[in-house]
Amino acid sequence: MPVADTLHGVPLFSRLGEAELARVAEAARERTYPKNSVILFEDDPGDALYIVVTGQVKVVLIGEDGREVILSVLGESDFFGEMSLIDDEPRSAHVIAMEDANLLVLRREDFQNALEAHPRIALGLLLALSHRLRRADDKIGSLVLLDVMGRVARLLLELADENDGVTITRRVTHHTIAQMIGSSRETVSRTMRDLADKGMIEVNRRAITIKDRTALKGTAGLG
Ligand code: CMP
Repeated sequence: MPVADTLHGVPLFSRLGEAELARVAEAARERTYPKNSVILFEDDPGDALYIVVTGQVKVVLIGEDGREVILSVLGESDFFGEMSLIDDEPRSAHVIAMEDANLLVLRREDFQNALEAHPRIALGLLLALSHRLRRADDKIGSLVLLDVMGRVARLLLELADENDGVTITRRVTHHTIAQMIGSSRETVSRTMRDLADKGMIEVNRRAITIKDRTALKGTAGLG
């Protein structure tokens, strides 16, 4: 797909006209990152913005003991790397490819030129940052206010809502879920079994299905 068409589908740039999009597209470079490769390192200086064309990446913090906390999983049409470009501070987190990922890279100077020339990009940026802050607030709330079963229930509802509200087709291992909710793989596996035993979810090799949304919402503190 031509770069301009890809950019048109990215909310950050979707308000731009054709000629404006073409100029941004010309400045963007395509890059492929294999599964598990580190795209950005926390604390490195930041010099580019990244847009996900295909694949999934995770935004992670890694503790001194090697434990990982997943702050967010980003997919098609999402962008990352904007924070260092905005505040000139080092990268706030690592960004790692969860599967082979195709990205568009826009250098700092090109992003800043586009931002100055098209203030509508700034509006898109504010919307996206506000959305991220809401999700981060939710995460802090559930980490402090919910037990592990509540956190798993809330994450499953979020993942199902990315789809049809019922089925989770995105492949998430128990290990990944544990890293997303600040728990261990063993506890997540036990919790998933409990939720299935209570008839709230059904798990098979292809997908997780939500069988009793009302009960799951109650467990997630959203009842
Ligand atoms: P930057 O700090 O330049 O590099 C790491 C990037 O990860 C950051 O920009 C954001 O784009 C992204 N990021 C950091 N924290 C979050 C979060 N809580 N949710 C989604 N993306 C994030």
